Amino acid sequence: MATRVLGIETSCDETGIAIYDSEHGILSHALYSQTETHAEYGGVVPELASRDHIRKTALLTEQVIQQAGLKGQDIDAVAFTQGPGLIGALLVGSTFGRSLAYAWGAEAVAVHHMEGHLLAPMLEEEKPDFPFVALLVSGGHTLLVDVKGIGNYTILGESIDDAAGEAFDKTAKIMELGYPGGPMLAKLAEKGRPGRYKFPRPMTDRPGLDMSFSGLKTFTANTLRDSDQSEQTLADIAFAFQEAVVDTLMIKCRRAIQQTGHKQLVVAGGVSANVSLRDGLATLMQKVGGKVFYPRPEYCTDNGAMIAYAGYCRFKMGERETLQIKARPRWPIDELTC
Ligand code: KG4
Ligand code: ZN
Repeated sequence: MATRVLGIETSCDETGIAIYDSEHGILSHALYSQTETHAEYGGVVPELASRDHIRKTALLTEQVIQQAGLKGQDIDAVAFTQGPGLIGALLVGSTFGRSLAYAWGAEAVAVHHMEGHLLAPMLEEEKPDFPFVALLVSGGHTLLVDVKGIGNYTILGESIDDAAGEAFDKTAKIMELGYPGGPMLAKLAEKGRPGRYKFPRPMTDRPGLDMSFSGLKTFTANTLRDSDQSEQTLADIAFAFQEAVVDTLMIKCRRAIQQTGHKQLVVAGGVSANVSLRDGLATLMQKVGGKVFYPRPEYCTDNGAMIAYAGYCRFKMGERETLQIKARPRWPIDELTC
């Protein structure tokens, strides 16, 4: 008989709910993005995020249950993001999810948000096999992980300051591109011309897999100040910034592949929606005779489907939450076990 897991994601500024079925995959999913709520502040306001999650969580749950043609009793487990993320936002999903499982007589399963991202490519037809290298690039994290199995994670390198997505967002803010900055900067970069500006590739001139992206926003600010700030110039700067981030990530991925000997690379998290990064890494993996795997674009950024799937994996492994409701705003991925 099929196992069905409802997944709830509320760690940041997206409310995502989905149902995963072990025989049919994702049956239904719904996403509410809080972009409008936070746009006027130019970034996520944690208190407003919690309030928006509270307004939407039950509504979206009802919607996905109906879309799937199911009832509460058909759900074997309710999985929710327990961390890392904003404490208030996490508490909404954890409290709602744990209580819903209790009411339905289902099990409750806690999910690590980054494990959700990491396993998202498993929802695609072409899936990676273990072991692989994972590049996790989101708004809060930039990690290179040696993945030997679910929960068997060794961090190979990480950003010592801003995450890649954070660098996109902060740079977009400096360039006054609006919020959310990452996708807008990427869009502007499409109109940019290669070769006009050359940005540094931070921490690539020394060995190791750690990264640093905070210097690039300062470099952008200085370049912008010394420029004519015309539309074309802005596009050229956006291009150079994106090229520097993508190039740096490619250099680090190449090293991680060499170091581990793995032939597969998984790229996930919000920045994995970036077309230039996707293309660059596909070319790189082709050159080394390997293969790259991504989630489809809608599962790159935060969503409920990845939480439902990771929750299903954890449920199958026997994980169960007690009735004590917990949220873990800080939760290093290598603390997970298999
Ligand atoms: O995974 P995600 O939705 O949320 C976190 O867990 O943080 O990632 C959001 C991040 C944001 O920083 C956003 O600007 C970035 O992903 N992002 C992009 C693109 N789409 C989303 N960055 C560059 N290019 C994109 N196309
Ligand atoms: Zn995320």
